[in-house]
Amino acid sequence: VAWSDSGRVLPAYAYTDASVFAQDRALLLGEWFAVGRVTDYPPGTYHTLELAGQPVLVWCSKDGKIRAFENVCRHRMSVLAEGSGEGQFMSCPFHGWTYASDGKLRSAPQVDKDLTEAIALPEFAVEIWLGFVFVNCDKNADAMAPRLEGVEELVRPHRIDEFSFSFMQSSETVVNANWKLMMEIGLESYHFPFVHRDTLAPRLMGAPDAPETNGWWTVSVEPRKHALLPSAEDPESLTDTERSTTFTFGVLPNTVFNIDVDNVVWFSVLPLAPTKSRVIYGVAARNEHCVRPLGGTEIVSVEEYQAWGDRLGAEDNAMSERVQRGLLGKHAEPGMLIRNAEHCLYDMQRYFEARIPNYPEIAQS
Ligand code: FES
Ligand SMILES: [Fe+2]
Repeated sequence: VAWSDSGRVLPAYAYTDASVFAQDRALLLGEWFAVGRVTDYPPGTYHTLELAGQPVLVWCSKDGKIRAFENVCRHRMSVLAEGSGEGQFMSCPFHGWTYASDGKLRSAPQVDKDLTEAIALPEFAVEIWLGFVFVNCDKNADAMAPRLEGVEELVRPHRIDEFSFSFMQSSETVVNANWKLMMEIGLESYHFPFVHRDTLAPRLMGAPDAPETNGWWTVSVEPRKHALLPSAEDPESLTDTERSTTFTFGVLPNTVFNIDVDNVVWFSVLPLAPTKSRVIYGVAARNEHCVRPLGGTEIVSVEEYQAWGDRLGAEDNAMSERVQRGLLGKHAEPGMLIRNAEHCLYDMQRYFEARIPNYPEIAQS
């Protein structure tokens, strides 16, 4: 019997056990991660990330092509680049091997040119979807866009592909929680009136719709009380859907998008260990005048928006850590899932079951 047939939350060990985590990680290494907007990668810039532990360098060359590489030097396997920055060339801090933005080794001190010629950073798959950059560490992964066809149709009225403003950030904060807990709290809105009483809750009506999914994504279609009235665009030109709907949708298993008519707040969870995770998150907006939160208070600067994002993140992260502690209770048992309000947890369970037999079963060693 599949776990999802029980109508219950996953058992505690699914969020703590090392062998379940190893299975999760193997799955994630073949999955698509959102790593920002195209506008977060102007020509000649790069960002580094660790996707489920895999060091990745996303690098845009001068001609505007965004590529992703394994961020590991081909000499003695040091991590190559750190953080974010600008540059056409990347030198390893260990012995100075230098790579170009096409991934090829350009020079290595005291080494003949003919020995370096064939050396290059392994390349990963990159796909652009509605202005977002996705990376898959499996070079031969199936294309992502066809998986999102159903959801693309749903969110198309908000025209997020046209959004011209963005910023993103890798959070330095390590959250003491399993990555699936962070996904679940990012996807369901049942907790809004409690965890986000003063932030998200005032504008949203609760009672989301839960459209059928093809198993690659999950979405909540949620009515909200009033439009965001973007100052740079005539609100009268908005359709009913634009005026009254937000979408919380997950590209399973690890990225969440909160889509509103003039902005998208998104994050990807980067698991580090069974009970440790980090996130990369960002905001995209129709233009720089439309950067304002879902809560209704007008926010006009990026700094204010970041502070808002940090506040929401802190509210959710504290709750994830609190659940993680609860999982250690001797009598802690998975309770019932609430229809619609928590349907995304059910969709996540189904996602795992379709890919890992008997999930979540502890592997016998
Ligand atoms: S490990 Fe990078 S140059 Fe030696
Ligand atoms: Fe939340």
